[in-house]
Amino acid sequence: MRMSRSFLVAFLGFLVLAVLIQAQDQSGFISIACGAPAGVNFTVRQTGLNYTSDANFINTGVSRTIVPELRHEFLRNVWNLRSFPEGKRNCYKINITRGSKYLIGASFLYGNYDGLNMLPKFDLLLGANRWDTVDIKNASVSRHFEIIYVPSLDYVHICMVDTGLGTPFISAITLRSLRNDIYETEFGSLQTYIRRDLGSNKGYRYDDDVYDRYWSYDDADTWYDNVDKWKQLNFPIDADSLVQNHYQPPAVVMSTAVTPANVSAPLVISWKPYDPKESFYVYMHFTEIQVLAKNQTREFNITLNGKLWYENESPRYHSVNTIYSTSGISGKLINFSFVMTETSTLPPIINAIEIYRVKEFPQQDTYQGDVDAITTIKSVYGVTRDWQGDPCSPKDYLWEGLNCTYPVIDSPRIITLNLSSSGLSGKIGPSILNLTMLEKLDLSNNSLNGEVPDFLSQLQYLKILNLENNNLSGSIPSTLVEKSKEGSLSLRYGSY
Ligand SMILES: *[C@@H]1O[C@H](CO)[C@@H](O)[C@H](O)[C@H]1NC(C)=O
Ligand SMILES: *[C@@H]1O[C@H](CO)[C@@H](O)[C@H](O)[C@H]1NC(C)=O
Ligand SMILES: *[C@@H]1O[C@H](CO)[C@@H](O)[C@H](O)[C@H]1NC(C)=O
Ligand SMILES: *[C@@H]1O[C@H](CO)[C@@H](O)[C@H](O)[C@H]1NC(C)=O
Ligand SMILES: *[C@@H]1O[C@H](CO)[C@@H](O)[C@H](O)[C@H]1NC(C)=O
Ligand SMILES: *[C@@H]1O[C@H](CO)[C@@H](O)[C@H](O)[C@H]1NC(C)=O
Ligand SMILES: *[C@@H]1O[C@H](CO)[C@@H](O)[C@H](O)[C@H]1NC(C)=O
Ligand SMILES: *[C@@H]1O[C@H](CO)[C@@H](O)[C@H](O)[C@H]1NC(C)=O
Ligand SMILES: *[C@@H]1O[C@H](CO)[C@@H](O)[C@H](O)[C@H]1NC(C)=O
Ligand SMILES: *[C@@H]1O[C@H](CO)[C@@H](O)[C@H](O)[C@H]1NC(C)=O
Ligand SMILES: *[C@@H]1O[C@H](CO)[C@@H](O)[C@H](O)[C@H]1NC(C)=O
Ligand SMILES: *[C@@H]1O[C@H](CO)[C@@H](O)[C@H](O)[C@H]1NC(C)=O
Repeated sequence: MRMSRSFLVAFLGFLVLAVLIQAQDQSGFISIACGAPAGVNFTVRQTGLNYTSDANFINTGVSRTIVPELRHEFLRNVWNLRSFPEGKRNCYKINITRGSKYLIGASFLYGNYDGLNMLPKFDLLLGANRWDTVDIKNASVSRHFEIIYVPSLDYVHICMVDTGLGTPFISAITLRSLRNDIYETEFGSLQTYIRRDLGSNKGYRYDDDVYDRYWSYDDADTWYDNVDKWKQLNFPIDADSLVQNHYQPPAVVMSTAVTPANVSAPLVISWKPYDPKESFYVYMHFTEIQVLAKNQTREFNITLNGKLWYENESPRYHSVNTIYSTSGISGKLINFSFVMTETSTLPPIINAIEIYRVKEFPQQDTYQGDVDAITTIKSVYGVTRDWQGDPCSPKDYLWEGLNCTYPVIDSPRIITLNLSSSGLSGKIGPSILNLTMLEKLDLSNNSLNGEVPDFLSQLQYLKILNLENNNLSGSIPSTLVEKSKEGSLSLRYGSY
């Protein structure tokens, strides 16, 4: 049996968490309880994590509550949820620091909130791209999606898309700010695949983990062909006496390790990817937990599918060393083997391992200037359309009334704005000028009044301008008439 494709956590595992909560710093954390009443903040006692209502991050959807029998105290953050019976795409907009690295989590506990016992399936978007498909298989089990992501804008959009297979919803969103120099990839983002506290029978997260990563307990079923071949070691380490590196695996996680049950055999960690084309990044955390005698050494080589991958690793006492891949690893079977060197007197050990799957997000976010402009236009004209998330992307979910270009290496740009028959009133404002690449502008069949502004001629790429059937007065500015005569602009004006 292997891990589910998208890292699935039965949150029941959290029951065994240590209840000792200290006031750890939660700066850099955003913890959102979706559907919780506006203004409500609460602390989940078992983790000490402070959650806030989602009211400031979204203005669509409805607040719902899971059935009472599933409201366990340790799951307080998913008692409420926000469901989206209306609109194809509904989005959260969360302010962040552009260019910084985040660990982003999204949790979904259906909990039969609607009494229909119909398990929905829908898409989850992150910015301009599809992140995953949320396929709820069990009403009482929370699904959790986690990714390490560097947003390119000052905010991130997390959207639920109705794909016709049930009403989308979301229970909780978490963002944890990470150092930029850890978990680096050649390209793509890293989806959590497996994160294990090897040698442990307990799971740990915040506040043992400063980044609130969840380290699940040892489960031999995860791995390919290693059942009964490991021995667990446990030598508690005090957090203060552990010399950390930038990855900061918790001391309690580093206190346990696995070693081969047969001391002269290699230690093998292997798994079978669902798809041999999938690409993985692996982070192995080591520290010596035993006091070695003068005549003892522990040293090993690490091979990957039989080829030397790292040589002469000798974990230092109570000091974290992380060995990681610098490019993606793929294959039908991925087999790491830890082999004692000739001079070593002790078998290899490993304390913890993280495995991430590369997720490519090929579509760039729409050009920020265009996003700002269209957002202003939406509010100035009171556009009531279902405009949420990225305007141009994904292409399938392009905002109604827009069209965009998708340059290969640059951001998408808005080239068409069609607000015909949209019930617009008031004057034509200058906010449209900020859509600098606009080629087609259709404002026909509205109740716009005032004069046709001269500034529209500043839109240098404009080819089609339709102002028919409004209450506009005055004459057409000469600059526009000239362009029309030249043939560079197709202009429609007047009533039908
Ligand atoms: C979490 O919230 C509690 C109660 O509102 C507050 O006392 C505590 O200081 C908060 N902790 C952090 C780390 O923000
Ligand atoms: C709730 O938390 C948010 C962010 O942590 C804070 O800005 C707000 O003041 C808090 N509200 C209450 C009622 O404590
Ligand atoms: C996000 O940032 C924008 C622009 O700075 C600001 O107007 C908005 O209030 C912020 N939203 C939240 C929830 O803090
Ligand atoms: C759903 O999960 C619960 C808790 O893990 C389990 O007891 C139950 O049998 C599962 N239901 C189905 C239909 O698989
Ligand atoms: C232990 O491993 C060694 C080397 O791989 C092997 O020769 C030996 O048979 C193994 N012993 C047992 C009891 O499996
Ligand atoms: C290491 O030294 C101890 C005594 O200090 C001895 O009992 C043991 O056999 C030695 N081990 C090895 C592998 O030489
Ligand atoms: C993994 O590699 C080791 C050493 O190369 C080998 O002994 C072992 O049989 C391999 N395991 C699997 C499952 O292929
Ligand atoms: C470990 O790697 C070193 C350096 O490549 C090599 O000399 C040595 O033979 C290797 N030892 C084993 C047991 O594979
Ligand atoms: C958007 O523009 C492309 C390329 O010009 C065109 O093929 C497509 O039909 C347009 N889509 C809409 C909805 O106007
Ligand atoms: C704008 O949309 C309307 C209705 O969908 C359509 O009839 C019209 O041709 C569109 N205008 C342009 C310039 O594509
Ligand atoms: C113009 O808009 C009205 C409502 O705003 C609509 O009923 C009518 O069908 C539209 N006419 C055309 C030709 O699109
Ligand atoms: C156009 O964008 C600029 C820069 O983002 C902004 O300062 C200006 O107010 C915008 N103009 C209008 C008319 O919205």
